[in-house]
Amino acid sequence: MQIGVIGLGTVGYGVVDILTKEKKRLEKLIGQEVVVKYGCSLDDVELPNGIIATKDYKEVINDKDIDVVVELIGGTTIAKKIILEALEAKKHVVTANKALIAHYGKEIYQCANENNCHILYEASVGGGIPVLVSQKESLVANNTKKITGILNGTTNFILTLMEKDNLDFNEALAIAESLGYVEANPALDLDGIDAAHKICILAQNGFNQFIDADKIQCNGIRSVTKKDMNYAMKFGYRIKLIAQAKKLDDGIGIDVSTSLVNKEMLVANVMDAYNVVEIDTDYLENVLYYGKGAGRYVTASAVVSDIIKTHQNDLWSHEYEDCQNVQPITKAKYYIRCSKPIDVDYIEYYSKQDDHIYFTKEMELEDLKPLLEQDSVYFKVHG
Ligand code: HSE
Repeated sequence: MQIGVIGLGTVGYGVVDILTKEKKRLEKLIGQEVVVKYGCSLDDVELPNGIIATKDYKEVINDKDIDVVVELIGGTTIAKKIILEALEAKKHVVTANKALIAHYGKEIYQCANENNCHILYEASVGGGIPVLVSQKESLVANNTKKITGILNGTTNFILTLMEKDNLDFNEALAIAESLGYVEANPALDLDGIDAAHKICILAQNGFNQFIDADKIQCNGIRSVTKKDMNYAMKFGYRIKLIAQAKKLDDGIGIDVSTSLVNKEMLVANVMDAYNVVEIDTDYLENVLYYGKGAGRYVTASAVVSDIIKTHQNDLWSHEYEDCQNVQPITKAKYYIRCSKPIDVDYIEYYSKQDDHIYFTKEMELEDLKPLLEQDSVYFKVHG
């Protein structure tokens, strides 16, 4: 197996490193050579002996000896071009590109299918957690009913810092930034867009339907205050960025919402930059996948597994219908903090200093909104 790695950032180097260190064991496992032939980057790079450094991705794709092209440059423009050209040149493709798979999965899978090639993208969701391969293979007996996840490590790290060190959002964000956790475009993390890409991919594979990623509503974590964090803690909850997708009779409910999660739930105890995916199914019932959602070797682990998987002949099918009805999950229990009492059906009510705090019964958001004052704060309650 001859491999070309395009994109030599954090993950790309991790991939080259694992493939170099684990070469002998992996070769024994699949009974063939595992050779990284090219490392492709626009920057000047240092690579282990024997790997050709190139700045031209076409050199990789046009090499008839290359079996697998690994796309790790990210984004949805050049990366898409590279992946489609690689597939058309009959190369298997491995990618970690969540935005690309969420937005253009349909076109890419179709191209892979037409060219009889693998397109594998385990590293796009949950870093190294083997959740997509599990969905596509280990869960095939089951119909997926619901998928719930903490899918963005950066926001989980920020929320954990806010809770543990009693910091406000901007203080915690500054620490996350200083550690290099935040994406170059912070909105991807903070506004829930990255989590939306990931739940989109999980939902597509879980429900066998293509979902328009642009239709996924996101309520990110910028609105979380120290005050609400402290109230959540006091009343037995944690604040988490929850991505959820649910099979409905007439479509798919899907969204990303900053939510209060009952501390008794496993999901509430996923801290720091860890990720979790919980899949509810009919036969297996519910199953949880937990682990680090980002990092050089964590993500490279999934990429290398995919590379090795390309030696198998059975290609994944992505014969999905388009989902015609994508809608946010708005029927929920809500946490409300307001400065005046409101007339809402509640399960719990607390009055603290100038705040009135309600935990409502399950209700539709459209019925809640008219009851709120301008200064009211609300979050979904999970569990
Ligand atoms: N920004 C992403 C996260 C990186 O924080 O989860 C991994 O996809």
